[in-house]
Amino acid sequence: MRTEVIKQECSCMNEEELKRAGAVIRNGGLVAFPTETVYGLGGDALNPESSKKIYAAKGRPSDNPLIVHICCMEDLEPLVSEIPEAAVKLAEAFWPGPLTMVLPKSQLVPKETTGGLDTVAVRMPSHEVAKAFIREAGGYVAAPSANLSGRPSPTQARYVLEDMDGRIEMIIDGGDIPIGLESTIVDLTQEEPMILRPGYITAAMLEEVLGKVDTDPTILDGTCKERPKAPGMRYRHYAPKGSMLIVEGASKAVISEINRRLAADKEAGLRTGVLATRENVDAFGADVVKCMGSREKEEEIATSLYRCLREMDDENVERIYSESFSTNGIGQAIMNRLLKAAGHEILILEEDA
Ligand code: TXA
Ligand code: MG
Repeated sequence: MRTEVIKQECSCMNEEELKRAGAVIRNGGLVAFPTETVYGLGGDALNPESSKKIYAAKGRPSDNPLIVHICCMEDLEPLVSEIPEAAVKLAEAFWPGPLTMVLPKSQLVPKETTGGLDTVAVRMPSHEVAKAFIREAGGYVAAPSANLSGRPSPTQARYVLEDMDGRIEMIIDGGDIPIGLESTIVDLTQEEPMILRPGYITAAMLEEVLGKVDTDPTILDGTCKERPKAPGMRYRHYAPKGSMLIVEGASKAVISEINRRLAADKEAGLRTGVLATRENVDAFGADVVKCMGSREKEEEIATSLYRCLREMDDENVERIYSESFSTNGIGQAIMNRLLKAAGHEILILEEDA
């Protein structure tokens, strides 16, 4: 299959081309498109054959459900058997935007889309191109991140093309993605709302609207015996090709520990890389040092994290070290993705070591 790439800018959208992209979805094909979080791999959420194609294109296990993307509030009701009060409040506060809600599904949604579950994850993205495309596609677009299963989610169209060339009909190139981490997922089907995947919308922001919100305990703890409640969080994910270790501790200690290890890796003939903050970017003696942004502005780190992981692959880095981040606010989402990328390999340096 030939994969066509079309360009769309939020400021001047080409309606003809968006109609063409929408028609591909209506006819059962797949189109990757930009959202404010990451690029999505879209198919008709109400067509079981489209969902099967998404799993095949990604190489994703079919028990890992897809998020259904909508473009207006009226389109929520047909998807779900009930709209709890909490969902109305969250939609008012955060939609359109980087929040996904898990709700009891209606008959309309095929089990192929929900990985066999009786619940459906729904999100209304805020990206202008995404909204226009979803409308042209018929209103219901199932979309996982547009990467091959296990790879870092794409925040630039070239990485979508790298993973999906020849596997899907079309890619809408909307340029660089503003947020860079996937949406926060909150489950509203239990007594207490629970965060299944942290994201740009933090626990504190949700609590401001809902009162107490639980967090799935497996999110930051690789040793937790429970199974993550979002099926997708069970798999190794976001992984670069090289092996990776996160080093946590006081800044000076982290720098000297990483440099000590880099020297040994170089001795062993390995090509090395460091994911660094702007504050420390000049301190590391690695072959490749990627600046993820300032520690003072964790949004910057979020936006560049996946790109930096992909660039490590572009430069054939075999051994990667990363600085660590606080788990407050958006730092929780950053650490969740970093820990998964590193297969939970983290070295915690004692204060006075
Ligand atoms: O920001 C995002 O959410 C991006 C963009 C494209 O919108 N999409 C995305 O989709 O990250 P994906 O498929 O890569 O991740 C969806 C996650 C998976 O971990 C999946 O298991 C979980 O959501 N999920 C989907 N439906 C669910 C459900 N009914 N119950 C629990 N978890 C669900
Ligand atoms: Mg994904």
